[in-house]
Amino acid sequence: MIKTVQQALAESGSLKPVSESHVLETELLLSHVLDKTREYLRAHTEEEISDDHYQQFQFMLQRRQQGEPVAYILGHREFWDFDLKVNESVLIPRAETEVLVEKCLARLEGLGSSLRIADLGTGSGAIAIAIARTNPGWQVDAVDISEDALSVARGNATALGVNNIEFHLGSWCDGLPEAHYDLIVANPPYVEPGDKYLAEGDLPFEPSIALVADDHGFAAFNSITAAAPAYLKKDAWLLYEHGYNQQSQLIDTLVASAFDKVAGYQDYAGVDRIVEAMWTGNS
Ligand SMILES: C[S@@+](CC[C@H](N)C(=O)[O-])C[C@H]1O[C@@H](n2cnc3c(N)ncnc32)[C@H](O)[C@@H]1O
Repeated sequence: MIKTVQQALAESGSLKPVSESHVLETELLLSHVLDKTREYLRAHTEEEISDDHYQQFQFMLQRRQQGEPVAYILGHREFWDFDLKVNESVLIPRAETEVLVEKCLARLEGLGSSLRIADLGTGSGAIAIAIARTNPGWQVDAVDISEDALSVARGNATALGVNNIEFHLGSWCDGLPEAHYDLIVANPPYVEPGDKYLAEGDLPFEPSIALVADDHGFAAFNSITAAAPAYLKKDAWLLYEHGYNQQSQLIDTLVASAFDKVAGYQDYAGVDRIVEAMWTGNS
C-alpha cells in the first residue's frame, strides 16, 4: 500500500527504545532516502512515497532499531562548520571535540601563518581538518594507526578541498615526521577496558581501537606525554580531550613531566573534558 510522508514519519515510535531523538532521527533517515530537507518533509506531509523509497526507509529504520548509529547509516556527520563522511572504521565525531578545536585555535591565534600542527589519532580527520581550514598556510600532520581510518580522513580532506594536511600511518608521535610543532593535539582512546559505557549508545558499533586504552584508559596519554617534548617547539602547546574522571590525574602527570601552564577545561555539558599544557623546554 502506498505510504505518505506523514505515515512514514509516524513510525518514529519504533525508535523510542534506542533513541531519545527518535522523531529527529526518523526525519533524518527519510530525508536521506528522499533526498529532501526536513523542512520539505514537514511542508509536504501528504506527498506519496514510492515503494522503492519506502523499502529503503524501512531498511534504515530496522538498522537503527538494532542500535546502529544514525551517522553510520547515513554515512556522514556534521562537525564544526563542515560535513564529514564516516563509516565503521572511525569514531563518530562528538560535539565535545569541538571544544578541543576551540581551545587549539585560541592557542594558535596570533602566532602567525606558518605554523606546524600535529593531530594524533585523527580518525575521520575532524580535528585536523577544522584546524587546517582555519589557515591554509598552516601545515598539519595527522597520524593514525588505522589504515582504514586514514583512508576516511584523506577522503574527507579531499572532498573539502583541504590541501595542507599530510596523513601518516603510525603510532602516536612515532608516526610523525622529524619536525617540531607549535601545537600537538590528541583525542586518543581513553575508556578503561570493560567499562560499562562501552555497551551504551553508539559505542558498541564504534572501533574499539578508537575507544579503549589500557592502564585504566591512560595508556595513550602516557605514551604521548612521554614522547611529545621531543616534537614540540619551545613554548608550544599540547592539548588533550579526555574522559569525565581523568582530568586531575592527567594534570598531575603533565606537571610531573615538566610541562608548564597546565590547565583543565569543561565541555558544553559542564563535564571536565580538555587539558592543555605548554612545553617551555626547561626540563
Ligand atoms: C577517540 S578516536 C578520535 C578520532 C578523531 N580525532 C576525533 O576526535 O573524532 C581515537 C583515534 O586514535 C586512533 N589510534 C588508536 N591507537 C593509536 C595509536 N597507537 N597511534 C595512532 N592512532 C591511534 C584510532 O584509530 C582512532 O582513530
